[in-house]
Amino acid sequence: MGSSCGKGSSCKSSSTCGSADAAMAKQNMAINTSLGKIKNKILVMSGKGGVGKSTVSTNLALGLANKGYKVGLMDVDLHGPDICRMLNLTEKLQARQTEAGGLVPPMQYGENLKVISLEYMMEDRDDPIIWRGPLKVQAIRQFIADMDWGDLDYLVIDAPPGTGDEPLTVAQTIKDAQAIVVTTPQEVALADVRKSLNFCKHVKMNVIGMVENMSGFICPHCDHNVEIFKTGGGEKTAKDFGIRFLGKVPIDPRVVVGGDDGTPYLSSGAESPAVKAFAEIISNVEKVLAPLKPLSLSSADSGCGCGSTCNPSTCTC
Ligand SMILES: Nc1ncnc2c1ncn2[C@@H]1O[C@H](COP(=O)(O)OP(=O)(O)OP(=O)(O)O)[C@@H](O)[C@H]1O
Ligand SMILES: [Mg+2]
Ligand SMILES: [Zn+2]
Repeated sequence: MGSSCGKGSSCKSSSTCGSADAAMAKQNMAINTSLGKIKNKILVMSGKGGVGKSTVSTNLALGLANKGYKVGLMDVDLHGPDICRMLNLTEKLQARQTEAGGLVPPMQYGENLKVISLEYMMEDRDDPIIWRGPLKVQAIRQFIADMDWGDLDYLVIDAPPGTGDEPLTVAQTIKDAQAIVVTTPQEVALADVRKSLNFCKHVKMNVIGMVENMSGFICPHCDHNVEIFKTGGGEKTAKDFGIRFLGKVPIDPRVVVGGDDGTPYLSSGAESPAVKAFAEIISNVEKVLAPLKPLSLSSADSGCGCGSTCNPSTCTC
């Protein structure tokens, strides 16, 4: 005879299946508890690689933290985590911190920003991550269930490029996550943006808006704007899709240096067009997601957090 997994007699592991169900239900509860304390969840995504998602995530999280909000930054780019480098976080999780079934403390950056990245848990950060879908899904679920995020105003989630396991897991696990889509102005990047927007439509994820990064280059010598990848394409695509345009960030060599050195650009204090652009994007996000929604505990009453009114002890969502 099978177990409660719903596969009936086709279940091959009835002796362990029930306990797997129970573990899953327990994890769903923990996810629910964790998410119930986080007011706004923002997934930063793009169809194309290298367009500036991690740069936008880092500066957005830091900018909001600098304004006094309690912020979390979760790096779900499991194959190419960049957040630790961008914030110069070198801390390693100690084994004793994971003992006794307690919640794991995230890394702390300044007073208001908590950060989680797979690199925090790796013995050697240069080791390649060779994982397939189910492991990635589990890692992301643990990033939510097992971490001591506490009460947060914003959780910013940095995704890898594309619409694979990671953004899908975020969409399925965090039902009220909302997306910021990052693009560069040239047509090839915009074609990928359309895919991201269609993904959001498919998984019913609200889109906060779009950011056009690497939008023109301001010459540091003469302040002349050179449109290397053209400019304005993101704004046009946003309009075509009926979504909000959050702002455009020019190419600025100091952004690269900041990213490589772990000195995020916004904290540089520079009065440059890129700093102003990030500041505008941050205040637009703040406007869209404000007034902050009161913590909703209703989903905790209606099951395991999968979004339907399931039975939490049997749901395998
Ligand atoms: N506005 C900018 N001006 C100059 N350099 C930038 C700008 N935005 C991002 N960069 C640089 O471009 C590179 C790619 O940026 P980033 O890592 O943020 O992109 P990504 O979309 O997260 O990439 P991946 O898809 O690999 O995760 C980095 O070296 C970053 O410092
Ligand atoms: Mg990245
Ligand atoms: Zn010049």
